[in-house]
Amino acid sequence: MSTQANKTKIDLDIRPFSKAPLGAEVRGIDLSKPLSKETQATVYKSFLKHQLLVFRDQKLTKQEQVEFSKQFGELERHTLRNRGQEDEPLVHVVSNLGPDGKPTGKVNSDMWHTDKSFRPLPSMATILHAQVLPPNGGDTCFANMYAAYEALSESEKETLDDVKVVHSWELSRENIGRVMSEEEKRDAPTNAWPLARVHPETGRKALFMGMHASHIEGRPLEEGRAKIIALEEHATQQKFCHRHTWQSGDVLMWDNRCLLHRADPNFDASLHPRILHRTCLRGTTPA
Ligand code: OGA
Ligand code: MN
Repeated sequence: MSTQANKTKIDLDIRPFSKAPLGAEVRGIDLSKPLSKETQATVYKSFLKHQLLVFRDQKLTKQEQVEFSKQFGELERHTLRNRGQEDEPLVHVVSNLGPDGKPTGKVNSDMWHTDKSFRPLPSMATILHAQVLPPNGGDTCFANMYAAYEALSESEKETLDDVKVVHSWELSRENIGRVMSEEEKRDAPTNAWPLARVHPETGRKALFMGMHASHIEGRPLEEGRAKIIALEEHATQQKFCHRHTWQSGDVLMWDNRCLLHRADPNFDASLHPRILHRTCLRGTTPA
């Protein structure tokens, strides 16, 4: 075994969050350098086990973030309005700044969701790297959809068998008061996925919904919406949730197949900038 591999093995320190329903901090790793195969495998195994990994004190350029992300899968492009910037289109800049570079007061992604669930291949993982943080707040919240599913009664679980949810980017934009252009609609047609999906790697069932989830396939719109809203209320109870308080240098990597997440606009977003760099890895067809 090489010295490098030995070093990685000894230094890597994975600390599950105590009293939290998900998440672990990973220490002893510099994400700006290529990881040994062994470290990659350990990180991925921890990601599957804890659903959210937090790496502290990192300082990645956009290109380094792309290189880090690529070690775990295939990078996903972003929606038409979020194509990133020309220097690195695969990195989406998440921010509350307007075209004039000033805080707008608006924080995006503040409703529970799983990334790109309206896509034919919804995201497997999202990697988010803090660039500029407000003095306080601007947390990101996570909810464990394995735990939410497992907490349902057996008869409730049975009612979810074979139920499919229509995920729609158009509806999700309407909900935040935006009408999409025809070009945008063509770019993101709807898709229907099992409400309780089987995680392709762990084999565990997880609720799969969030703000892009519109209604239930084959059922009246209002009935389906009501069902989804009620389930989301159940699934995002405090006991299933973990709140990430950002520190400068943080990199988060989470599993979109079994978590919901949202930004908490708990800071003055008209005064303070909040900027993060995001990469997404493509998943598989939910089943
Ligand atoms: C995202 C997202 C949450 C946040 O980038 O996909 O949901 O806290 N971000 O900004
Ligand atoms: Mn998101």
